[in-house]
Amino acid sequence: MKTLTITRPDDWHVHFRDGPMMHAVLPHTSADFARAIVMPNLEPPVVTKADAIAYRTRILAALPSEHDFTPLMTLYLTESTEPDDLAAAFEEGVATAVKLYPAGATTNSASGVRDIDKVMPALERMARIGMPLCVHGEVTDSDIDIFDREAVFIERVLDPLCRRLPELRVVMEHVTTKDGVDYVASQPENMGATITTHHLIINRNAVLAGGIRPHYYCLPVAKRDSHRLALRNAATSGDKRFFLGTDSAPHVDAAKQTACGCAGIFTAPNTLACLAHVFEEEGALDRLEAFVSFNGTDFYGLPRNRTKIVLERKDTPLAPAGHIETGDGTVTVFDPMFPIQWNVAHAAGTAPPSLVAKGTA
Ligand code: DOR
Ligand code: ZN
Repeated sequence: MKTLTITRPDDWHVHFRDGPMMHAVLPHTSADFARAIVMPNLEPPVVTKADAIAYRTRILAALPSEHDFTPLMTLYLTESTEPDDLAAAFEEGVATAVKLYPAGATTNSASGVRDIDKVMPALERMARIGMPLCVHGEVTDSDIDIFDREAVFIERVLDPLCRRLPELRVVMEHVTTKDGVDYVASQPENMGATITTHHLIINRNAVLAGGIRPHYYCLPVAKRDSHRLALRNAATSGDKRFFLGTDSAPHVDAAKQTACGCAGIFTAPNTLACLAHVFEEEGALDRLEAFVSFNGTDFYGLPRNRTKIVLERKDTPLAPAGHIETGDGTVTVFDPMFPIQWNVAHAAGTAPPSLVAKGTA
């Protein structure tokens, strides 16, 4: 058995949801990560400082007492967001960032931004105080092909915004294209990008070839393989602008396996195991720590974690992950379509809840 010891990682993009779902999914992140940027797309969304305080309180109440984990809150940007409220949330340490969803782009984005001019006062204020903007980078125009929506967003929205507010700190979330990687790499260091675990592993064939597979459907949708390879290059390059944001996005099976299934892949339970596999495959295990534990932390200007985690590579593959049960229903865990040999070693009492193995009820 081989082991790899790294600084405890942070997840710079995760969905915990709320209520029974949150209780079930949160320990899978808090067992392995020290901090996570928590997405605000609840129904209704987390818009104000008061909403973020209330949501953070609910997360901390649901956290297993043996897990040492800090949720970093985000505010959902709307066209009626008050710049003073954003600034207060940031300056008082309530919110770490603001999330921009173009209206209609994804799950619970109906209250998002239609006209960027209407949120300029908020963005100008953020640029002044150094509050980062996390961007869901897809246009929503019905005449733009879904596979082109990221590239068109860069051209029509992101680049003009960066030119207008060059001091704004921007994270292009879950980048899925070579266009996105190249754009971010061409920008000054106040732009970063998160990359998900699943976009390093699947391409659009996983979703569509040989049958439609709802558990590989997410937004931005996985693209052709050349894009996946560009993402792998960026993630394993050591370039400080690229860091892990899992976008672990649980939905119950009933909402995914239906005529109009929701977007989102639940990767929290096996994200680090899958990433160790990917980095090993790329001959870059020595750069895994930068991607999961340093680059994002440095981008956000936070102290690096002092504790470590140990990843173990077993000689024989582990039982494939199947699903978890939540108070809201069954949630399928991401299947990377390769045997998983890595896992995170947990000290006694700190292991996450067990998964139901694939093929078991
Ligand atoms: O696949 C996704 N799921 N992409 C998103 O942008 C949102 C997320 C969710 O909240 O389910
Ligand atoms: Zn997300």
